[in-house]
Amino acid sequence: MSVHNNVKMITTHILSEMKLKGEKIAMLTAYDYSMARLVDQAGVDVILVGDSASNVMAGHATTLPITLDNMIYHAASVVRAVSKALVVVDLPFGTYQGNSKEALNSAIRIMKETGAHAVKLEGGFEVKESIIRILSAGIPVMGHLGLTPQSIHKFGTYVVRAREEEEAKQLKEDAKLLEELGCFGMVIEKVPAKLAGEVAAMVKIPIIGIGAGSQVDGQVLVLHDMLGITQEFSPRFLRRYHNLSAEIHGAVKSYIADVRAVDFPNEKEQY
Ligand code: KIV
Repeated sequence: MSVHNNVKMITTHILSEMKLKGEKIAMLTAYDYSMARLVDQAGVDVILVGDSASNVMAGHATTLPITLDNMIYHAASVVRAVSKALVVVDLPFGTYQGNSKEALNSAIRIMKETGAHAVKLEGGFEVKESIIRILSAGIPVMGHLGLTPQSIHKFGTYVVRAREEEEAKQLKEDAKLLEELGCFGMVIEKVPAKLAGEVAAMVKIPIIGIGAGSQVDGQVLVLHDMLGITQEFSPRFLRRYHNLSAEIHGAVKSYIADVRAVDFPNEKEQY
């Protein structure tokens, strides 16, 4: 229970119980107070303050440019809105790879300055030391395997990962390692559904898929994609639950027309 109110907050422990009971976990991104409030009130289990904010919020082509300070700003705004969901924050590119002390400092800043509940980072064996060090400070860590957007310049493309046996084997080894190190869960992005299902069956910690089929323990989508706010991005795995871009466009057009016609404000809308 939260110490502040009677709403039962989602914890990493609850997520592992959900996996045990076969209850699917629903996770969505949010980057600001207003959206996070709506998403939390709707009952999502996990809110990810993803470094996809780099694309969605800031208009960058990749997730690489977003800074730790940017992520802290987004995460603190989200945490202020949330009363139930577990809030996980992405460690941005360049703040945890290759230097476990820096990784710990980055994770501590996120926890101290935002009030979030956990951090997420991309990679397996190559980020082992960073994971160990962050966990040693009592900070819950979520992994991220498969398509890892921070490595886009190594991959060269956003196509499905781990189709070949060698990469699939490596992914399984990395998943096992993340579990052994003590990660409470992991995202697996854009890999064949069969492989993701095998990984979910192989480890006890929850596997949250994005473009990884239905045989995993939960799903995550980028909020602006599933609401139809972003328009250019339409991979096969994306289900659009709304066409908000059209609705916003229509509403703004109506507003402009009303202002020009001196229909807004009317008598009741003034003092
Ligand atoms: O940054 C993000 O939004 C993510 C999700 C795609 C899982 O990492």
